[in-house]
Amino acid sequence: MTLKKICCVGAGYVGGPTCTVIASKCPQLTVTVVDLSETRIAQWNSENLPIFEPGLYDLVKECRGRNLFFSTNVKEAIVEADLIFICVNTPTKHFGKGKGRAADLKYIESAARMIAEVSQNSKIVVEKSTVPVKAAESITNIMRANIKPGVQYQVLSNPEFLAEGTAVNDLIYPDRVLIGGDPSPLGQEAIQSLRWIYEHWVPQDKIITMNTWSSELSKLAANAFLAQRISSINAMSAICEMTGADVSEVANAVGRDTRIGNKFLKASVGFGGFSGFGGSCFQKDVLNLVYLCECLNLPEVAEYWQQVININDYQRRRFANKIIESLFNTVTNKKIAIFGFAFKKDTGDTRESAAIYVSKYLMEEGACLRIYDPKVEEAQLMSELTQPSITDDPDKVKELVTICKDPYQAAQNAHAVVICTEWDEFIALDYQGIYKSMLKPAFLFDGRLILKHQELLDIGFHVVTIGKKLQRSNVHRPIATSLQ
Ligand SMILES: NC(=O)c1ccc[n+]([C@@H]2O[C@H](COP(=O)([O-])OP(=O)(O)OC[C@H]3O[C@@H](n4cnc5c(N)ncnc54)[C@H](O)[C@@H]3O)[C@@H](O)[C@H]2O)c1
Repeated sequence: MTLKKICCVGAGYVGGPTCTVIASKCPQLTVTVVDLSETRIAQWNSENLPIFEPGLYDLVKECRGRNLFFSTNVKEAIVEADLIFICVNTPTKHFGKGKGRAADLKYIESAARMIAEVSQNSKIVVEKSTVPVKAAESITNIMRANIKPGVQYQVLSNPEFLAEGTAVNDLIYPDRVLIGGDPSPLGQEAIQSLRWIYEHWVPQDKIITMNTWSSELSKLAANAFLAQRISSINAMSAICEMTGADVSEVANAVGRDTRIGNKFLKASVGFGGFSGFGGSCFQKDVLNLVYLCECLNLPEVAEYWQQVININDYQRRRFANKIIESLFNTVTNKKIAIFGFAFKKDTGDTRESAAIYVSKYLMEEGACLRIYDPKVEEAQLMSELTQPSITDDPDKVKELVTICKDPYQAAQNAHAVVICTEWDEFIALDYQGIYKSMLKPAFLFDGRLILKHQELLDIGFHVVTIGKKLQRSNVHRPIATSLQ
C-alpha cells in the first residue's frame, strides 16, 4: 500500500512527539494528530505545547501547517487516513475486574469502534499504546465484527519505547523499532508499509519484525526488566544504610560487569520517578504484567513480578519514614519544602511521581508542604494530590499545600527540604542562603542523590540520603543532634 495520509488517535506524550518526528522525517506524508480533548489540541496548535520535551517545539514549528496537523475532527482524519496509529492512554483500572492491576482498555476499544464505524476503505491500524498480550486480537475482532463491504483491516503492534524528557532524541535515534503483525501475505504487506515509514531515518537493522504477540509482550517485558533493576538497586540501598556500605559504590562495582552493565542502577526514592530515564508507565505496565500472569494461571510468575512493585512501594514509604523519624518523629505543622514534583527532570508529567506518595505520607502526619517544580502547573499538582487514592479530604490537602514560585520561597522558614525530582537547577542553588533562611536544625533529604553532600554538611545541614549513611566530618559545626 502506498501511504499518503496517516492519522494518530491520541495527542499525548506518545502521539504528539511520535507524529511530529514522522512528519519531520517524511515530508511527503500528511500527518494528522487527533484527540477528543479540545484543550489539548488547542495547545498543540499554540506556542504553548501541552507537553514539555527538549527539542519538540522547534520540530513542531517546522512541520505544523505544512504536513503536520492537530485536530479534534477525529472522524474526518480517520476517513482520510491510509494508516492509523492508536496512541490513546491505557491506565490501570480503578474499579471492576482486575481493579488496581489490569490495563483499562476502554479508550483503545472506543478508538477501534470509531475506526470501524467511519472507515470507507481499507486501513492499517497500528497499536502503539502499551497493551496486554492479545489486545491486537481484540481490536481486530471488534473491527471485523463491524466491518463494511470492501473494507479490510490489518492490525499491527508497534510499541513505543520513548522515555519522557528525551522523547525527541529517543524517537530519532531509537535502540530498536518493533513491528508485530499477522504472518499472512496481507499482514506482511502491512508490516512493510509501516517499515517504510521508519526506514526514512532508522537504520534497517534496528527495525525488527515479529509476530504480534511477541511484539506486545516485548514492551511489557522491557519495562518490567527496567523496573526490576531499579527495585534491585533500591533493595540494596536499604542494606547499605544499615551497614555503612555506599549504594553508589556498590552500583559502580556491579555495573562494571559487562554482563550487567552500568545503566539503570541508580538508587532513588523509587521508580515512577528515578534519575535519568522515563517511568510514568513502569508501575502500570508491571501491574499489567502481573495481572496477565494471574489470568494465564501462572501465580508464581505473577508473584515474582509483584515483588518489583512491592519494593518500589517500600522504598517510597521508607523514604517518607526517614523524613518523619529524622524530624524527631513528628512533622505535624512543620513546614517541609518539596523540590520537584514531576516524575523525573525535563518533563512536566506527574503521573505516578514519587513526589505524590512522599507528599501523601507527610500530609497524613499533618505536615505543611511548600512545593516547587519548574514545569508542573498548580492545577495539575493539586489534582494529583486530591485524587481519591491519595486523600479522602481534598479540603485538608488545600490547607496543607502551598505552591511556591521558586525554591527559595519554598525553603523559607522550613524545617526540611526534600529533593523529589532531579532537576538540574536544584544542583546549583545557593544552599548557604537556603540554610540561613530555614529553621534550625535544618534538614535536607536528597531522594535523588544529586547534591554534593559533604558541602551541605559543611554548611550545617543535617543531610539524609538514600543508600548511604552520612557523617558530619567537622565536629565543631553547631548542631548537636546526630544524623539518623
Ligand atoms: N508516556 C510515555 O512515556 C510512554 C512511553 C511509551 C509508551 N507509552 C504508552 O503509550 C500510550 C499513550 O500514553 P501517553 O503518555 O501518550 O498518554 P496520554 O494520556 O498523554 O495521551 C493519550 C491521549 O489520548 C486521548 N484519547 C483517549 N481516547 C481517545 C479517543 N477515543 N479518541 C481520541 N483521543 C483519545 C486522550 O484525550 C489523551 O490526550 C499508553 O498506552 C502508554 O502506556 C507511554
